[in-house]
Amino acid sequence: MKAGVITVSDKGSKGLRTDTSGPAIKEMLKTIGCETVEYTIVPDERDIIANEIIRMSSLDLDFIFTTGGTGFSKRDVTPEATLDVIEREAPGIPEAMRYHSLKITPKAMLSRAKAGIRGNSIIINLPGSEKAVKEHLEIVLPVLDHARGILLGLHSECGNHPHDKI
Ligand code: MTE
Repeated sequence: MKAGVITVSDKGSKGLRTDTSGPAIKEMLKTIGCETVEYTIVPDERDIIANEIIRMSSLDLDFIFTTGGTGFSKRDVTPEATLDVIEREAPGIPEAMRYHSLKITPKAMLSRAKAGIRGNSIIINLPGSEKAVKEHLEIVLPVLDHARGILLGLHSECGNHPHDKI
């Protein structure tokens, strides 16, 4: 499995903040055998974020994770950029992430994260902090392989898949 990581941060893109969230995603993906082959830091600009998602999906990456820009700040436009370029929305993924995260902090309701599909890629928004990234990924990682299998037509029967036992 191959992934791309897009860190969305005005400060990070200018070298004014060290990105710890992008590297945390890469490390966690390794635990499920997923290699991060693309990694970029972009400013909170809708067109730039959207174009980066398009570029990575054209490489047929299985997963594209964004981190940052999902909140209420006027510069937070990652969900809008994501909706601009996905072909089909996957609302269950952010629903699950928020459901899980709300058990940890009520601030989880402040993330407007989206997820969806473009071509052969599954795109998932994550909040910006390293802590939030880890708390989101722990609920999502166990189903990624099956999500990819269904999208690519590799897993035809959900009931027979080992992940259905979790
Ligand atoms: N989800 C989890 N699991 N843990 C967190 O600490 N922080 C919240 C929320 N989701 C948080 C979380 C906060 S404080 C905000 S403002 C939103 O994510 C949006 O974050 P972002 O603007 O960095 O994307």
